[in-house]
Amino acid sequence: MTQYKIPVIPGDGIGPEIVAEGKKVIDAAGEKFGFDVEWVEFPQGADHYLETGELISLDTLKELSSYPVIYLGSIGDPRIAPGVLEKGILLAARFYFDQYVNLRPIKLLEGVWTPVKDKTPKDIDFTVVRENTEDFYIGIGGKAKKGVSKNLLEVERNLYSAKFDLDIETDSEEIAYQIGMISKEGTRRVIKYAFDLALKKKKHVSSVDKANVLSDIYGFWRQEFQDIASGYPEITTDFNYVDAITMWFVKNPEWFDVVVTPNMFGDIITDLGAMIQGGLGLAPGGNINPEGTSMFEPIHGSAPKYKGQNKVNPIATIWAGSLMLEQLGEGEAADAIVAAIEKNILDSKVKTYDMGGTSTTSDVGDDIARIVSSI
Ligand code: IPM
Ligand code: MN
Repeated sequence: MTQYKIPVIPGDGIGPEIVAEGKKVIDAAGEKFGFDVEWVEFPQGADHYLETGELISLDTLKELSSYPVIYLGSIGDPRIAPGVLEKGILLAARFYFDQYVNLRPIKLLEGVWTPVKDKTPKDIDFTVVRENTEDFYIGIGGKAKKGVSKNLLEVERNLYSAKFDLDIETDSEEIAYQIGMISKEGTRRVIKYAFDLALKKKKHVSSVDKANVLSDIYGFWRQEFQDIASGYPEITTDFNYVDAITMWFVKNPEWFDVVVTPNMFGDIITDLGAMIQGGLGLAPGGNINPEGTSMFEPIHGSAPKYKGQNKVNPIATIWAGSLMLEQLGEGEAADAIVAAIEKNILDSKVKTYDMGGTSTTSDVGDDIARIVSSI
């Protein structure tokens, strides 16, 4: 029997409750498909931070890097200023492990209600490949002093130009800035991943950018996209400005197969994607480094107000567990979990409140585990 050792970070809020159900379903799949998982629990999150002052240490990251996958619940706690845990744990892990692909399937399952009128599961079935280590997430920014533009005359004639230069040597609070950066290699590898994925799907890749305004950074993205595309003659492509794609996701989701996007736009459009597939309770994600350590998590946050109530929907986390098994090469077990989720939604009355039911988090986990065992 194949043995896996998988580190798990339950995290904050509802994290421990949903992760428990994900583990339960994966254990059931293991029994059925001939593998066994030893779960290694890590305490990182709000309580650990408040007790020890540690977010995630370099030693922990090094230890985790010996594993191919990590299972993550959710990070975030109202006792701690926004961003501290998210940047100090979640983004630290994404960057440390160089998880350059954030894979977010947008798939409306049979029996799930979508707010998009007249769309069915065959219309909403695509994957967003979000770049995950660059763009406005690189963490370079600060406060500065407003200076006089070197090109003052030109600036005054051109209403569309910035009105000041930055003097980033000072600590003044006159302006704040944040720098977005993408690299050639960082852009090409994620776009390549998207094209390789499309080869296994409907052979269409859509690019997202804002090359009409942020033309230095996203013009560069578009140029690299076109260059990669020329190596895949069998794949069709299109370009979308990020504002427009939010409209198309709602109006014509059936157009999409693989959507590849820079980091920040990907963050934004995948919450919209989650909504058209039935809500955040159903949306899984994988932070992938194909040659290193990948990390799987629901897209939703830690929902502190529901903590400890055994109430929230564990399906996003269970589905993230399926993506994790896929990454480990357990494709059959991964498919069985998605099939079991679909069967639970279609045939079973065991549903959480967000899906119109009255069942608990653990009832739904039990039900999906039972279906996996009987598949
Ligand atoms: C996500 C989240 C994170 C992000 C936050 C919590 C740092 O919104 O995974 O989409 O912005 O990437
Ligand atoms: Mn997000």
